[in-house]
Amino acid sequence: MKNKPAGIFITGTDTGVGKTLVAAALIKVLQKQGLNPGYFKPMASGALKTRQGPTAPDVNFVLKATSLNDSPTLVNPVCLVPPLAPLTAAELTGVKWTLSSILKSYRSLQKDHPFMIVEGVGGILVPLKKQFLVTDLMVKMGLPVMVVARPSLGTINHTLMTLTLLKQRGLNVAGFLFNGQKGKAGLAERTAPQVISKFSGAPFWGNLPFDPKVSERAYSLGSIPGRLEKMVPRSFFKIFKPCGAPRSMKKDSSERR
Ligand SMILES: Nc1ncnc2c1ncn2[C@@H]1O[C@H](COP(=O)(O)OP(=O)(O)O)[C@@H](O)[C@H]1O
Ligand SMILES: [Mg+2]
Repeated sequence: MKNKPAGIFITGTDTGVGKTLVAAALIKVLQKQGLNPGYFKPMASGALKTRQGPTAPDVNFVLKATSLNDSPTLVNPVCLVPPLAPLTAAELTGVKWTLSSILKSYRSLQKDHPFMIVEGVGGILVPLKKQFLVTDLMVKMGLPVMVVARPSLGTINHTLMTLTLLKQRGLNVAGFLFNGQKGKAGLAERTAPQVISKFSGAPFWGNLPFDPKVSERAYSLGSIPGRLEKMVPRSFFKIFKPCGAPRSMKKDSSERR
């Protein structure tokens, strides 16, 4: 893309780690700052068949939980029913799509939203098309990347693999966070962030707990936006240059971590 747009690409170490929840919560945080973020899910699989056509649960959830009014087909231009990697799901259902059609929807949303929260699909090596992985889409979109990971033992390996590859592809990593901590963090959960940061150089935003008040059915984000707000480093808002940071934030130039 010629003009690199303002926004962030939210990816994860896996599917089900909390990308959608974090995307929705981040939108709420930005809305509270008086900003006007949009949501974009370039590709989704595992969509539900509805009278209006296939609908991705992620899109339905984020739009409802954040009161965004954008058209679901614009927010999610490629919506596939089989719960498979998009490459396989598209091949099975005969759906054809092009990168330019995805970027066209994205640009159209950008007209209404100066900041875009983009959610990937699965992890970063999920195949979208022949010879085209999520990382290739990330490079095309040129956005800084946020990695959502699980906190438990084993996360060092998955998170470092993700961060290392992002770096190799020349992508700017805004940070990583852990989501879904159940109960008190053990030694593994407490020590992993430092190790990952040290080896990758990526900033750790913090740990989001499992919150039983989060509900897909009730479109509830529970305590997550409030917690995420406290974790967002001030430098993050510099991403959103076109309108600048809100006045209250400009006064305090200290970095909050
Ligand atoms: N911190 C949390 N507390 C409670 N439920 C969570 C939390 N994070 C994720 N979930 C739930 O776990 C499921 C998977 O999360 P989701 O955000 O959809 O993951 P992804 O987008 O990475 O596939 C959803 O049902 C979501 O509501
Ligand atoms: Mg999701």
